[in-house]
Amino acid sequence: MNARLEAKHITKRFGGLEALRDVTLTADDEILGLIGPNGAGKTTLFNVISGFLRPTSGEVIFDGRAIHTKPTHEITRLGIARTFQIVKPFTDLTVLDNVLAGLGCHTYPTPRAFAEKYRAPNHVAHARELLAFTDLTKWENTLAGNLPIGLQRKLEIARALGTNPRLLLLDEPAAGLTAGEAEELAALIRKLRAQGKTIIVIEHNMAFAMNLCERIVVLAQGKVIAQGTPAQVQNDERVINAYLGH
Ligand SMILES: Nc1ncnc2c1ncn2[C@@H]1O[C@H](COP(=O)(O)OP(=O)(O)OP(=O)(O)O)[C@@H](O)[C@H]1O
Ligand SMILES: [Mg+2]
Repeated sequence: MNARLEAKHITKRFGGLEALRDVTLTADDEILGLIGPNGAGKTTLFNVISGFLRPTSGEVIFDGRAIHTKPTHEITRLGIARTFQIVKPFTDLTVLDNVLAGLGCHTYPTPRAFAEKYRAPNHVAHARELLAFTDLTKWENTLAGNLPIGLQRKLEIARALGTNPRLLLLDEPAAGLTAGEAEELAALIRKLRAQGKTIIVIEHNMAFAMNLCERIVVLAQGKVIAQGTPAQVQNDERVINAYLGH
């Protein structure tokens, strides 16, 4: 089950602002960290890969197929899923229903029809499996809006896994977590990696990224300024300067 992503010469402009400039990177069977200062273009790159935004120029290739012209649902079907920097659960639905809402949603006549006759037993079983995998079983009947942020972030991952992705894009999954919650999250990401998934994780917490990621790409002002192992990147002068604002 390989999942190779190649971003080739991606440029993304918003009017006069160049958010990404000639960005080329590959993620292939690994946990790849994407780091860089605020406004570096990290989330924009996820938006381009997942089809939320079209690149101004450049190509995104997934398992040898160009995807940058495809709609989001087709990209999802090909095996790419993402979480959001700002978590977006349905706060008035239970944890179980949040996961259910995403399963088989292409067959529902309305977004909430999963709660009615479309509540298929196989989907409920699948949702429970995903909750067990993400350690959320005991919160199954809690309203998602009442969960602490650490558990909402896990719920985001459970929902993303519902589409059975081979490539998972995680946008700052550790933001706002305690050290203990972050360690649990790292263990969960390693478990996904062990299943053969490719994972790209945007992270601001350097220690977390260095500990978790096999390789790291550093973006600053829309450009790739360094890439390599955590040790290589940590000692790179351009990276140190970018973070110090030089
Ligand atoms: N839809 C948009 N329209 C206009 N400008 C945008 C849009 N999305 C992002 N930008 C701009 O593009 C640049 C890159 O933003 P992006 O959100 O990708 O950065 P980031 O690296 O994810 O930052 P952060 O670490 O703060 O999340 C910023 O200057 C941002 O204001
Ligand atoms: Mg961002």
